[in-house]
Amino acid sequence: MKNTRLMVNLAGLKLANPTMLASGVLGYSAETLETIVEGGAGAVVTKSVGLKPRSGYANPTVVQVDCGLVNAMGLPNPGIDEFVREIREAKAVLSVPLIVSVYGFSENEYAVVAKKAVNAGADVVELNVSCPHVKETGSEIGQNPEVLSKVVRKVKAAVEKPVFVKLSPNVTSIADIAEAAAKAGANALTAINTVKAMAIDPETTMPILSNRVGGLSGPAVKPIAVRCVYEIFERVKVPIIGCGGVASWRDAVEFLLAGASAVQIGTAIATEGSNVFGKVTQGIDAYLKRKDFKSVGEVVGLSHRS
Ligand code: DHB
Repeated sequence: MKNTRLMVNLAGLKLANPTMLASGVLGYSAETLETIVEGGAGAVVTKSVGLKPRSGYANPTVVQVDCGLVNAMGLPNPGIDEFVREIREAKAVLSVPLIVSVYGFSENEYAVVAKKAVNAGADVVELNVSCPHVKETGSEIGQNPEVLSKVVRKVKAAVEKPVFVKLSPNVTSIADIAEAAAKAGANALTAINTVKAMAIDPETTMPILSNRVGGLSGPAVKPIAVRCVYEIFERVKVPIIGCGGVASWRDAVEFLLAGASAVQIGTAIATEGSNVFGKVTQGIDAYLKRKDFKSVGEVVGLSHRS
């Protein structure tokens, strides 16, 4: 039986619970996405896919630091023409909405990839305009409101499914960027992508990642992400998906109270396993019951009242 207390309507997308797989973690194949759904996720987001195949950076691509991970994979992916097979297969087996993360090196590329993803069965496209280190894509697009607006408009004109925009925290004002994305037609905003970071090995005296600079995720970024969601909620009416360091129901509830309608989980899968989605969901449910809230929606943005 469906638990109506946990159900969320996100830009017309019906989720059985407010937890989603974040892009970049186990989102390469229909098989791994299925494992995540079995773990209790209400929706899944794939690893970012572009127009052409990319092998990504040399190893090491991930390093564990205090309170999180720093990674720079370099957007490795098979290219959209190959990935459409995975999308079709995932769509056939998954019982939850399938969100395909898309990147490009121009507005046109974003639109072409998004269209191919939707034609293959994607329920939503999430635009990666926030990868912190691959040149001429990601945050180089998402840090500039004019360029971002053009990308969002072009994708919106190309597809008839909802378009989510994943924002970078590596900006002076995330609310300004959120406003630009919302005005251009974004149906939801995901906040946040990783925080630009690096780690250096005292023994080798060198940066650990082959790309030197990467993106920080995990518990260390949660307070930054909560602040970003809070600021975006004050500025725009578009639904927000909180992302950054969620590992427990308390983390998830913090994001809901800041203004998120749902949360994405990524790094915690490495520490907690794929059942983290079910555990977080059960915890949210117990919290709602204990506090006498009738639905997730009742707590969204509740910390903003005076
Ligand atoms: C990569 C992409 C991202 O969007 C991110 O935040 C970190 C890493 C990557 O593929 O390297």
